[in-house]
Amino acid sequence: MPIINPTALQDDVARQKNAYPKNYILDQKQQLFLQEVIQGLQQKQKTLPCKYFYDEKGSALFEEICQLDEYYITRTELKLLDQIKHELAHKIGQDALIIEPGAGAGLKIQTLLGALKNPHSYVPMDISKDFLFYSASIIQHKFPQIEVLPIQVDFTQPINWLDQKIQPNRVVFFPGSTLGNFEPSLAIQFLNNMRQLVGTKGAIILGIDQLKSEQTLLQAYDDKQGVTARFNKNLLSRINKELYANFKLSQFKHQARFNKQLSRIEMHLVSQKNQQVSIDGQHFNFAKHESIHTENSHKYSDKMLHTIASKAQLKIVQTWQDPQNLIKIYYLQPTE
Ligand code: AVI
Repeated sequence: MPIINPTALQDDVARQKNAYPKNYILDQKQQLFLQEVIQGLQQKQKTLPCKYFYDEKGSALFEEICQLDEYYITRTELKLLDQIKHELAHKIGQDALIIEPGAGAGLKIQTLLGALKNPHSYVPMDISKDFLFYSASIIQHKFPQIEVLPIQVDFTQPINWLDQKIQPNRVVFFPGSTLGNFEPSLAIQFLNNMRQLVGTKGAIILGIDQLKSEQTLLQAYDDKQGVTARFNKNLLSRINKELYANFKLSQFKHQARFNKQLSRIEMHLVSQKNQQVSIDGQHFNFAKHESIHTENSHKYSDKMLHTIASKAQLKIVQTWQDPQNLIKIYYLQPTE
């Protein structure tokens, strides 16, 4: 008889053997997770996809990162949004349908929704169902006059299900510099998808971390309290927990690197000794100091953002920045 939820005893025995419990089956999501983990670890430069940071523990750690002194992005953007919300509302106009890919805790969108004139509806999109429906219910409660329509979807894939006839005034809201986590070619693809989603009269509001001093960037991704280190290592815990792997967390060290040429912060997990890790019966050897590359966070200048926007047939209509020019908010519209 196949099992999905092993008992504590079955689980313990399995972990000691570094194998799945007897008759255990992975669901579809776990199979994809396994496949992507194995693929990443087979590369010459071992990698793991950063989208898997966000299990329950990882999402809570990310919320903690957002409160850190060193991590300026969240608080600076929230402050800036609050300052420009009426200007943004004026630009967006009445009866807007606001779409938010990867809607997180929902603080930023509340600032915008509170300022909009008669917004029509709000469509938060996220891959993780529980968090999405929970924050959507909070927003619906706070804004009873708006229709809140949460959609569970992988927003990095093309979206063509939103009927173009529904509400022509569409705006995609994508703050937090999440675009920076995509490779530039994927960022262009994503912006292209969003342009098609909003249509010729629509707009995209983007929050983007700016290229700045290496020291400020490195501190933001390697904080004194070690929260980012825990966030990074949680990926290994998740693989151990869900795929019955045997990463020894103390044998990997978090490292933030600035890649000047590619204008990005990279997060790595560096092996502290020669060691072997087993996942699903496959063995991966790590040399001392060899790393797993877990995340890229691209930092943009206006010129670089202009380049990717125009490749997605979008133009920068307006830009706002904080007094220290740490982050920027861009208002983009289709060139045609
Ligand atoms: C979600 N994303 C924009 C964050 C960033 O800054 O790249 C994720 C993060 N990684 C480490 N700290 C925060």
